Amino acid sequence: MGVKICCIGAGYVGGPTMAVIALKCPDIIVHVVDISKPRIDAWNSDELPIYEPGLDEVVKACRGKNLFFSTDVERLVAESDIVFVSVNTPTKTSGLGAGKAADLTYWESAARMIADVSTSDKIVVEKSTVPVKTAEAIEKILTHNKKGINFEILSNPEFLAEGTAMEDLNQPDRVLIGGRETPGGQKAVAALKAVYAHWVPEENILTTNLWSAELSKLAANAFLAQRISSINAMSALCEATGADVSEVAYAVGKDSRIGPKFLNASVGFGGSCFQKDILNLVYICECNGLPEVANYWKQVVQINDYQKDRFVRRVVSSMFNTVSGKKVAVLGFAFKKDTGDTRETPAIDVCHGLLQDKALLNIYDPQVTEDQIKRDLSLNKFDWDHPHHLQPTNPTTLLNQVSVVKDAYEATKGAHGVCVITEWDEFKKLDYQKIYDGMQKPAFIFDGRNVLNGSELRKIGFIVYSIGKPLDPWVKDLPAAIVRMCLLWFPDRVGDTSF
Ligand code: UDX
Ligand code: UDX
Ligand code: ADP
Repeated sequence: MGVKICCIGAGYVGGPTMAVIALKCPDIIVHVVDISKPRIDAWNSDELPIYEPGLDEVVKACRGKNLFFSTDVERLVAESDIVFVSVNTPTKTSGLGAGKAADLTYWESAARMIADVSTSDKIVVEKSTVPVKTAEAIEKILTHNKKGINFEILSNPEFLAEGTAMEDLNQPDRVLIGGRETPGGQKAVAALKAVYAHWVPEENILTTNLWSAELSKLAANAFLAQRISSINAMSALCEATGADVSEVAYAVGKDSRIGPKFLNASVGFGGSCFQKDILNLVYICECNGLPEVANYWKQVVQINDYQKDRFVRRVVSSMFNTVSGKKVAVLGFAFKKDTGDTRETPAIDVCHGLLQDKALLNIYDPQVTEDQIKRDLSLNKFDWDHPHHLQPTNPTTLLNQVSVVKDAYEATKGAHGVCVITEWDEFKKLDYQKIYDGMQKPAFIFDGRNVLNGSELRKIGFIVYSIGKPLDPWVKDLPAAIVRMCLLWFPDRVGDTSF
């Protein structure tokens, strides 16, 4: 029998990663443990706790054979050779570094537990994204608590993206393993490499020192997010000048030095990683006396906030500068398609912005539950975290302006406007004539993902706003249109330039 693996944390990273290791390595026993009993129960049921295309099949094929989910954390950690730590590392909300630094409480308690229960040598693998030099701190906890037991710490950051986790795990661009440059460290690196070598070509398994591996993960996420903020910044300029952001992105991406991926302008990026990792990077730069570098990366988050804010302003200003009492359909709430995850989804800020302006929201998402949507909307986010004026003062009282409905047609019925926030494929295939017929007129569509066919929608009669696309005269000239309307009401002021 091969090595015994135990993974602490049965979340979006730990669950799918271990399922794929179990599938590809029938000779390895994989236990996934978590302190949350409901989560483990769900992993052991037919309704897995996360929605991820292709995951069900893999879990069903391996569960009970060489893949097990359990809350018996301490025993299973004690019995294993390799312990993956994949617990959550949210941004600190108070104390030193609040709003930027990673909160390592869960990590530290996991490390202390490993040190307490271990009776044999172990390889401890950092899987969750952590600040550079975390391994050093963890090593101290492990080695100081237990004499005579050898712990080797490795950094093996996960690069999977939600919605495509199974493909990403099956055929990773690369696997990165960082370890100490000592003989023991190198032996541990080789042991983990042997696990991945079951299915990943050797040239795609990169080995580095610990700090390079830790920093590479933060850097990769910062670069990816930077591309989105770059194209989103361009989208604002496109709208102002009449250029089309899709044409610009295509032309720019054709340069092989730049490449075509990750250049879709959007209402803003979300997800548990990008903002958190950039803020973390910013904090590390500040702590290392590099304010210029910190400010450079901070801009990526600031542009993302600006983009969400800009979208809300466009919706409100197009609809005659007020959405008060108007029904607005929100299609999509997850931070991207093919996931039910709502962490940092731009939908939260957009909904808050519209609710502040007293809109009545009909929200539909194919994978996010009503409970989750209401929980997300009732939480007050932090100032650092979100655009200032999209902050509701008392979010729970706004919830009576929110209905969560079962499909897109119900959401749009009687609405004045539709906002597409997530790029779910089903939104491309809707019967927009039917939707138009059921809406108030003029009927507005705000496509926050550029997934709809604007010219078809215009033919039906919609007034369309797509991110970074030439604006309908209606949207563009609205201030002028309002002035003209006002002049109808106050004809005596025609020619008054102060008007
Ligand atoms: C650039 C663009 O590449 C080209 O497409 C455009 O038409 C004109 O501007 P050029 O300035 O001639 O071309 O050279 P380029 O190879 O882009 O290098 C520009 C500068 O960036 C140089 O000083 C180069 O040394 C530097 N550079 C480039 C780096 O410091 N690091 C890199 O990885 C690449
Ligand atoms: C990301 C990284 O891609 C992954 O490598 C890392 O391990 C975790 O963080 P994830 O957050 O799951 O993965 O999804 P990703 O596909 O990167 O999308 C992040 C956000 O950016 C989403 O809100 C998405 O809609 C948005 N996005 C992505 C854009 O707005 N435009 C794009 O072109 C691409
Ligand atoms: P990620 O997206 O990084 O996978 P998640 O929040 O989805 O993050 O998952 C992290 C999991 O780690 C949660 O299910 C949480 O209950 C679990 N967890 C946190 N601390 C511990 C711990 N000390 N022992 C076991 N599980 C833990």
